[in-house]
Amino acid sequence: MDKFYITTAIDYVNGAPHIGHAYEKILTDIIARHFSQRTDNMFFLTGTDEHGIKIQKTAASKGIQPKELCDENAQKFKDAWKALDINYNKFIRTTDDYHENAVQKIFKKLVEQGDIYKHSYEGLYCTGCECFLNPKDLTEDGLCPDHLKKPEVVKEENYFFKLTKYKDAIIKHIKENPDFIVPSFRANEVLNQLEDIQDISVSRAKSNVQWGIDVLDDNEQSIYVWIDALSNYITALGYDTESVSEDFKKYWPADVQVIGKDILKFHSIYWPAFLLALDLPLPKHILAHGWITIDETKMSKSLGNVISPTSVLETFELKEPDAFRYYMATSAPCGRDGNYSDDDFKEKVNAHLANSMGNLLNRTLSMLVKYFDGVVQPKNLSLVDGAVELTKKALGTVKIVENHFNHFEVAEAAQEIIGIVDMTNKFVTDNAPWTLAKEDKMDECAQVLTTVLEVMCIISALIYPYCPNIAQSMAKQLSFDLSIKLDDLTADNIKEGKLISKEEITPVFLRVDSELADKSAKK
Ligand code: MSP
Repeated sequence: MDKFYITTAIDYVNGAPHIGHAYEKILTDIIARHFSQRTDNMFFLTGTDEHGIKIQKTAASKGIQPKELCDENAQKFKDAWKALDINYNKFIRTTDDYHENAVQKIFKKLVEQGDIYKHSYEGLYCTGCECFLNPKDLTEDGLCPDHLKKPEVVKEENYFFKLTKYKDAIIKHIKENPDFIVPSFRANEVLNQLEDIQDISVSRAKSNVQWGIDVLDDNEQSIYVWIDALSNYITALGYDTESVSEDFKKYWPADVQVIGKDILKFHSIYWPAFLLALDLPLPKHILAHGWITIDETKMSKSLGNVISPTSVLETFELKEPDAFRYYMATSAPCGRDGNYSDDDFKEKVNAHLANSMGNLLNRTLSMLVKYFDGVVQPKNLSLVDGAVELTKKALGTVKIVENHFNHFEVAEAAQEIIGIVDMTNKFVTDNAPWTLAKEDKMDECAQVLTTVLEVMCIISALIYPYCPNIAQSMAKQLSFDLSIKLDDLTADNIKEGKLISKEEITPVFLRVDSELADKSAKK
């Protein structure tokens, strides 16, 4: 693998981030960190979508200028991603000058080549979706099915993009590339939508929407949000129709574009059509994740159940985001809906991260100190039944995990990692090193401990994308270099000799809600 370019949807800045936005950024960050264990050329893009009527109206209701609202909220997104250790390479704001200029040029090029034309139009506009709706998609009461609001009747002269011209090419692409849309069960849904697509409006009258990028040479129209927003994936790399940057040459096409299922149509129909019109290659995969509910209820301002990502860290007094990242990432199989609940969160992270994984390392290192003064003995794993098999199984898990990530199955990969943790715990119970020590079988006892430490090195590398802080704490205590590429991993990581002293052993994750965790958070 020579490079990996991954993007998220860019979030609307009419409000602060919630855990739905966070779910997507966490998934993306985990995929990015995993692939950075496989290539040195990683580029991870995220950002904010700042134009459109929704933002214009929210700013007006607060009595402030739209840009002021954007600045305030874009910062909240950046702060939240920092708290969650989202390690992006670039944060694009659609109000950035370079982006606005490039979008104007893209629009102009499409007008000049006849892909965009002017047309009078009457349609039903949903501000929540920032798009025109097809009357047949409304609820029985004539409401937008996603926002349950009556769309506005809009009669305007707009610019239209010839989406119909690209319909057959997109259908062909989806059919010939069954892994273009991930998960593949969503492809049929898209093919059905493609059946009755029309040309789409790509501008709004400035008399109605002032907060948008101006169409060059037409001071009565502003560029409509989706062509503006979708272009971010290439403008961020320096694309602008006239010049092609080094980053664009290096990273485009994207390897995967991560988005929610609600905006799949825009990414698997509109976006490919714009790219085809610009004569650019299509992204390799579009990953449409599911929806996160709170206590099995859709999050909404009116229900008052919107949870901010950082509030979860505050509620449980977590200094690091690892547990929240792990929980969110494993909340649903690839592409399916997931749920957040406080009780489930506590139970899952305590069971997986504290009891199974953290304790395993902690008690193994404690035994190494107790029985061998922290010194790893000369290696001879074959002295213990199942030891060599366990290390082989751990290395085999690396391949299984890589394969899940090739299909962006983040939760499924985590299950494999916890599976090997459970197997290692069973290996310790079966071989009872404390009994071996009591019986003075010190050679066997030493090999049990070394086996576990070897496997823990592999586990720390595998869990790193999900829980970077926990993984670093594990690796530090194992004197293991986490910067290793996954393909270079062996079962020969632990060196003979002094590894650790009693004072250097620290729990990698404290149980949520335990007295110890409370004390540590207060410190
Ligand atoms: N601005 C557009 C995207 C433009 S991409 C060129 C947008 N913004 S959004 O703020 O409404 O949503 C941003 C992302 O968050 C989308 O991928 C959306 O699916 C995701 N989510 C918003 N709420 C969500 C949940 N409750 N659960 C999971 N993801 C959710 O759409």
